[in-house]
Parts: sequence; C-alpha cells; structure tokens
Amino acid sequence: MLKNLFLAAACLLLAVQASAQKPINVDQELAFAAQQYQRLLASHPDTTKFPQSTNPDGSPRDMPSSWWCSGFFGGSLWYLYEHTKAPEWKTAAERWTQAVAKEQYNTRTHDLGFMLYCPFGNGYRLTKNSAYPAVLVQGAKSLSTRFDPKVGVIKSWDTFKAWGTGQTYNYPVIIDNMMNLELLFWASKITGDPSFRRLAITHADNTLKNHFRPDFSSFHVVCYNPDGSVAAKKTAQGAADASAWARGQAWGLYGYTVMYRETKDPKYLAQARHIADFYLNHPNLPADKIPYWDFNAPGIPKEERDASAAAVAASALLELSQYSKPDQKRYFQAAETMLVSLASPAYKAKLGENNNFLLKHSVGSKPAKSEVDVPLVYADYYFLEGLLRYQALAKK
Ligand code: GLY
Repeated sequence: MLKNLFLAAACLLLAVQASAQKPINVDQELAFAAQQYQRLLASHPDTTKFPQSTNPDGSPRDMPSSWWCSGFFGGSLWYLYEHTKAPEWKTAAERWTQAVAKEQYNTRTHDLGFMLYCPFGNGYRLTKNSAYPAVLVQGAKSLSTRFDPKVGVIKSWDTFKAWGTGQTYNYPVIIDNMMNLELLFWASKITGDPSFRRLAITHADNTLKNHFRPDFSSFHVVCYNPDGSVAAKKTAQGAADASAWARGQAWGLYGYTVMYRETKDPKYLAQARHIADFYLNHPNLPADKIPYWDFNAPGIPKEERDASAAAVAASALLELSQYSKPDQKRYFQAAETMLVSLASPAYKAKLGENNNFLLKHSVGSKPAKSEVDVPLVYADYYFLEGLLRYQALAKK
C-alpha cells in the first residue's frame, strides 16, 4: 500500500516536472551550436573570407568584409561566448570582430549596423574592450554620411534599377535599413552627441510614413526624389512591388521594436504590434510559422521557406512581448513555435552537415536566383540571439 502511494507520488512529480519543461532545451541547442561552429571555425582559417552560405555546387560560399553580412559570424561567436563563458570563444570572436574593423570607414553601404554593431556591439557589451567604441562611433559617422536632411532618410544603395521598367533611381531606401538604426542610438549614448539619435528618429518616421501599406505590410524599396517626395515604391528581393517579402516584414518588426526600446514613443510600439499582427495573422503563414520567402509568392505552397525571416521575427517577437502586456503571451508563444520549428530536424542541420551552418532552408534573393534554399549566416545569428532571449525570458 505504502509502496503504491510512493509510486503514485513519484509519477505525479514527474508529470508536474514534464509539464513545466519548456519545449526548447536552450542549453542543449547551444551545446550543439558550439560543436557545429567549432567545425565552421576550423574550416575558416583565413579571416578575409567570411562564412556566408553554400554555393549551388554545394561548396562553402565565403564573402569579403565589405559584404553586408560580414559582422554576423563574429556576432554569433560572441553569443556562444556569452552562453559558454569559455575563453576560446572569446578569442575566436575577437579575431573575427577585428576582421571587420576596416569597414568603419566604408561610406558606400547603409549596412554598417549589421556589419559593425553585431560583432563590435556584442563584443563591447560582453567585454567592455576599450578599443571597440571608437570603431562603432566611426561606423556611425560613416553611416550618417548617407543621410541627406532634405530627403530625411539614410540612402540604402547608391542606385537601384527597377525590374521591368529598367528605370534607375538615385535615392533608394529599403526596409532593411531599419536594422542599422540601433548603432546610431548606441553612438549617441556613448558620445553624448544627440545628432545620431535624431537622424535615426527622422529615418524611422519617414519610413513609417512611406514604406507601409494600409494593412501594415511594407514595400521593400522606396525611391525618393531630392526634395524628399516619393518617386516610386518597388521591390528588389520580393515577388512583386505589391507583395510582402517575408524578411522585409521581419526587418520592419525588429526595427520598430528597437525604436520603441530606444525612445519609448508609443507610436513605434503600435507600429511593431501592427507589423507583428500582419505577419502572425497572415493566411499564408504555415502552421510551423516559418514563412514562405514572400507572403505572396505566386506558387505557394510550392515555394521555398525562409528560415532567416523566421529567426529574425522570433527574436524580435521575444523582445516585443516584453513591451506589450496585452499581447505578451501571444507573441511569446508565436516566437516559441518559430524556435521549436527552427530547432527541429526540418530546419536544423545535423553535426557536420550544411557546410557547418546551423539552419537550412533560407532564401537570400529568389528574383536574383541567388542563395535560394540554403544556409545563411544571418539566419544562424538571429536564431542564436532568439535562443538566448528565450532563455532569459523563461527564467523570469
Ligand atoms: N539586404 C538584406 C537582406 O537580404 O535581407
């Protein structure tokens, strides 16, 4: 009798523990990530060749430091250091961070937030390395040179040739540019110079005005005239000018969440929530919450998914869930579903597979037939960021 009682109590305890268990074991995921990234590191001895993706012939695709993705590998190494506290990850992260340093003077790209803030910003946050702020501040200055006050936005590309018409525009701004503003806020805080912050706010306000449709989906490319009026609304990486390119929606969601974090202006919170709701309520979002590369891709359901968009959206939603009490649970659970899907064998590579990247099935640019259904270094970066955010929130 007593034995049966003990047995019943033990079963109950196990059941309670099981139901309290989170659907993602972050420690296990990050232990795997560390093993996989040890291999990625070992296969990349030369710090002028940054891991990016896989070529169509299956070989590793590497890119130079001037490519917009050069900061993600160092950034991911910092996330592994943050989790493991192991000195070998710090050494590797420092090496791959330093490898991007020269891009601080690059004024030909708007991507300096991605390129510099992911490695140097995370490195500074974790180590307070006194050499890093100067690089970030110079990067913010270089980025600021692309802002024309008469237009009121940071220029993304120097020119853009629209598909179809072939017309060339000289002041194109892409929704992705919202991701470069965090660097500017950081630069204002460290220098005490409010001009970087003001510039970020002006860019975000004009993007809010011109990039979004009434349903809160966004255009990819808005082309401006010299007086700040809009010349055209186009796409470069989406299925059509009027479509909702999945990663673009995720960049906007992440960007306006950061805008709210940095300013506490409720209009940015409202915008982030609207974007989240467009994304999560979209009839073409599959049950596993990994979007097709474009919400309006013409061949759905026979279209590629984009794990990178899901990783960005998951990380953004975890932060947004902290700012929006009414939606806290809904956003957290949606992000959790995304991370569970990404961590499943459908999207996550096995050890030594996938050219040693973590995630499979991302899309760089389908219209350009470039990086379609491949690993992408930034999918891994935002997946790792999302896992760390998830773990921090699960502890609360
Ligand atoms: N331009 C960045 C991206 O492909 O999302």
